Amino acid sequence: MDASAPILLFDSGVGGLSVLGAVRKALPGAPIIYAADNAGLPYGTKTEAEVAARVCGLLGRMSERYRPRLICIACNTASTIALAMVRDVLNVPIVGTVPAIKPAAELTRSGVIGLLGTAATIRQPYVDRLAADFAADKKLLRFAAGELVGAAEARLRGKPVDPAVYQRAAAGLREQPGGDAIDTVVLACTHFPLVVDELSVAFGPQVRFVDGAAGIARRIAHLCAAQSFTRSRPDFALFTKDEVSLAALTPALAGYGLEAIEVFA
Ligand code: DGL
Repeated sequence: MDASAPILLFDSGVGGLSVLGAVRKALPGAPIIYAADNAGLPYGTKTEAEVAARVCGLLGRMSERYRPRLICIACNTASTIALAMVRDVLNVPIVGTVPAIKPAAELTRSGVIGLLGTAATIRQPYVDRLAADFAADKKLLRFAAGELVGAAEARLRGKPVDPAVYQRAAAGLREQPGGDAIDTVVLACTHFPLVVDELSVAFGPQVRFVDGAAGIARRIAHLCAAQSFTRSRPDFALFTKDEVSLAALTPALAGYGLEAIEVFA
């Protein structure tokens, strides 16, 4: 294993930074490439076939170019749709991001769990299986809160976001039958932990939020346990489309140790 081989984190946009934060804590010395398919953002409104084609195609090409030691699909939508397919076609360890229903089921006292994800994620059989395996004796209410993806993208660019966006996400769960008893909310989209403070205000202090980032970081650290790391260049972010607003992301990316932006062509 080449000590400078990077870990590649992949998402449709900035959401995977919530996973990168946890990976940095677990493996501060690991060289990282953060890849965002902003040309395909948002994934949550696309069909399964579109998401699978983009994710498999891009990760195949990125893997050839950058030879990562491990790929983390830091996106619930991409993982719940395409994790098995990507594992079938790439000869690299792949760590996925799937909704943290198991820890939420362990935490809830009321027995009612909310799940916020993209429209594509909440309809996946993968989520049905997690619910059946880990929360069969709980009530799991789902809501497609795709608006929060745009809110997180805006927030990290330093743009203002109308707080009504967060209120609508809370109401979408609360107003379902049994929703007033929700005490635990699964953030089943990696963009959502980036706006957890705003969501917390909208839901109120009795609700706690769960996401998969710490578990993913532990899994990656375990898989890399015997490996050594050196950086042959500063860590950087890779975007699939050049757009003016990328410049506004520079401070947020720097906060995650990503010192440059490149466009993947
Ligand atoms: N960050 C992605 C997720 O975890 C989705 C955002 C999008 O809709 O592209 O599901």
